[in-house]
Amino acid sequence: MIRILGIETSCDDTGIAIYDKKHGLLSNKIYKQNYLNTRHGGIIPELASRAHINKIIPLIQSALKDAQSKIQNIDAIAYTAGPGLSGPLIIGATTGKTLGYIYNIPSIPINHMEGHLLSPMLKIPELSFPLIALLISGGHTQLIAVKNIGEYKILGESTDDAVGETYDKIAKLLGLTYPGGKSLSILAKQGIPKTYIFPKPMTKKEGLQFSFSGLKTYVTNIIQKSPKNIQTKANIALAFEESVIDTFIIKCKRALKITKFNNLLLAGGVSANKKLRKKLTKIMQKKMGKIFIAPTRFCTDNGAMIAYVGMLRFQKNIKNDLKISINTNWSLEELSPIKHKKHSCNIII
Ligand code: KG4
Ligand code: ZN
Repeated sequence: MIRILGIETSCDDTGIAIYDKKHGLLSNKIYKQNYLNTRHGGIIPELASRAHINKIIPLIQSALKDAQSKIQNIDAIAYTAGPGLSGPLIIGATTGKTLGYIYNIPSIPINHMEGHLLSPMLKIPELSFPLIALLISGGHTQLIAVKNIGEYKILGESTDDAVGETYDKIAKLLGLTYPGGKSLSILAKQGIPKTYIFPKPMTKKEGLQFSFSGLKTYVTNIIQKSPKNIQTKANIALAFEESVIDTFIIKCKRALKITKFNNLLLAGGVSANKKLRKKLTKIMQKKMGKIFIAPTRFCTDNGAMIAYVGMLRFQKNIKNDLKISINTNWSLEELSPIKHKKHSCNIII
């Protein structure tokens, strides 16, 4: 049976997981650097790297303990090789390769965005293809045509800021802690609908591209001019969220129409957003299409999705290549198709 150790260090979270082909997810450890980011008003790559160095080995030890496994029982080490921040990526890659060298375990470089894209499979092992994937995170906003596992075509993406980054910036201006996506959504619940109406960027223009920097500037100006009481802040949070969600709904419907696909997949940190999940689910039910969304704990960065893709990309006689290579801009379009064999999957933690 194949047992994979997954290492995720593309950004600010250290994620370590162990996935077993027969028994499913045996351990999923995460260390979030939120206190550090809140203190510095965002991610500082050098500080993020140092925090990964401090946490990565203890997390691996504790994941192995959780899984009642020894490193010698691991068949391959899957590590995030990109896209992401170079310092954090190098730490994950070097740790994975070094462990592999010491214990003679092969390693598999994993694309972080493929990790997100396939994260719904941790719960539902069979996806229906072809499908449109909306990948929304702190670093990416992409619409992808997915023919099959490993066969990806980017239909549209943000020409400037990613949606998660925009959420975090607006949340910071509203006085919320980092990362702001979740807390902004909670604040938005107290908002009075239609007090503000914000633009839905790039929706009047044809095509599937996104842009969030204009919306960010627009909302920043409104915040600066508005009273600083909690109700006003909640009204702004609600209007911002509505504008982002409406933009995604319009673009997803457009992508489904253009491609004539009838299945949708939602992944990445921002896909933890309850309102967005609900609205897109309703739309797909109406269309009699399928929708795939990961459980909330697998939406934001985690080691489980990396270990899982490692399991899918595992091949017997894999070479124990010791070259440490990362690619901070690794595109999904550069990946190779995976021959996916059906297997049972059960989340047991
Ligand atoms: O995928 P992720 O963990 O990291 C990257 O790969 O970038 O995504 C993190 C992003 C942050 O910007 C965070 O604010 C956002 O996901 N996020 C949310 C929610 N939970 C996390 N945004 C909106 N609503 C949420 N509930
Ligand atoms: Zn991510």
